[in-house]
Amino acid sequence: MTAKLILEGKEYDLPTLRGTENELAIDISKLRAQTGAVTYDPGYGNTGSCQSAITFIDGEAGILRYRGYPIEELAGKVPFTHVAYLLIHGELPNAEQAAAWSESLRGNSLVHEGLLNFFDHFPVTAHPMNILAGMISSMSSFYPADSTDDAHIQQNILRLIGQVKTLAAFSYKKSVGEPLIYPRNDLSYCANFLRMMFATPCGEYEVSKTMEDALDMLLVLHADHEQNCSTSTVRMVSSSEANIYASVSAGVNALWGPLHGGANQAVLEMLQRIEADSGDYKKYVEMAKDKNSGFRLMGFGHRVYKNFDPRAKLLKKAADAVLDELGVSDPLLDIAKSLEEVALNDSFFVERKLYPNVDFYSGVIYRALGIPTDMFTVLFSIGRMPGWIAHWMEMRNDPDGRIHRPRQIYTGATLRHP
Ligand code: ACO
Repeated sequence: MTAKLILEGKEYDLPTLRGTENELAIDISKLRAQTGAVTYDPGYGNTGSCQSAITFIDGEAGILRYRGYPIEELAGKVPFTHVAYLLIHGELPNAEQAAAWSESLRGNSLVHEGLLNFFDHFPVTAHPMNILAGMISSMSSFYPADSTDDAHIQQNILRLIGQVKTLAAFSYKKSVGEPLIYPRNDLSYCANFLRMMFATPCGEYEVSKTMEDALDMLLVLHADHEQNCSTSTVRMVSSSEANIYASVSAGVNALWGPLHGGANQAVLEMLQRIEADSGDYKKYVEMAKDKNSGFRLMGFGHRVYKNFDPRAKLLKKAADAVLDELGVSDPLLDIAKSLEEVALNDSFFVERKLYPNVDFYSGVIYRALGIPTDMFTVLFSIGRMPGWIAHWMEMRNDPDGRIHRPRQIYTGATLRHP
């Protein structure tokens, strides 16, 4: 099947292609050569930037699958480290592969001692996302980061997944002025992280199974989301054959923005603001509808999901269960639920198909786990690490891969002379 384009009276046949889930695309890769025209798609809402076999989303039907597996059959059911293996290697690990993978991740959880000095030079007010991005970028000075040597690449992948949680916990410890707690190799990925966050040398810290399981589920829910802003950033940077640390640290920086991963921090701050304002959530729904207010309901809306975000659905259920199991009652959860109910019945939100996204309920759970607000997006980064890596690998091995270099429609001054 071809698509017909009529441009300035001339007809062109453009090839089409279909994905395995039947999505239809018009191949415009030769458009400029054939017609002299380029396409215009600000924000890339209609642009397929690559072919990818990692994650499938149907935003109309609220479907999210990693390598074909529905998110509902992974989150809370398959450990995060196995999901990481699935995203990177394409299949869930068998028992032997899982044991070897976990062992290798544990063996790579220690941060290079030389890197630790860097922590001392950030001001105490530094945002942990800034610290994390800086630390990951600096890893390429400490390890061979050659993008062409497969043995180095595999080792660097293990370092990134193994160390990201250690770097995250260390940045928190530095910010509260407590001594660093080193990883312990007999603990699971999530238990290790929670212990590095909350233990002190003054006593042993027993990791709660409820907290460990809740964190594992959260990380799985965040592990990949196809060509989102941070993943596209990782792909963009890696298209120049930049090394894996340079590419992934760019992803951390992109994730930090409040319209992307930074929304989880912004949601909690919004809920706190509403609580301090006598819990008047209806006022904030009205404010979000007023374009002049400059205020948006954080945690609402999504470029792709136009029905519901399946991750938000799972998180809403999990928030009730986790708070219940931990014996925590949080007025912010009640405000979040009331806000959602009002917004979902309001024509402004209904007409624009605005629903809660992954960031709407995650913060309430992080808070119940004792995670400070400015660490929320860091937790998102730990979860998204395998996704970024899987896309970095796919990009590297793509026979059609070329350096990313979009065109523009120039609107500046035409030729003039000083
Ligand atoms: N509150 C109020 N109005 C909104 C919201 C919101 N949260 N989101 C979108 N709208 C409105 C817009 O004003 C616009 O209205 P209009 O058509 O009358 O002009 C319409 O809905 C479409 O919005 P866009 O900004 O064009 O949608 P886009 O796809 O570009 O943006 C985004 C998606 C960034 C997620 C947006 O919905 C938003 O800012 N949400 C709040 C931030 C947030 O929660 N981000 C996390 C996303 S999930 C993630 O990245 C992990």
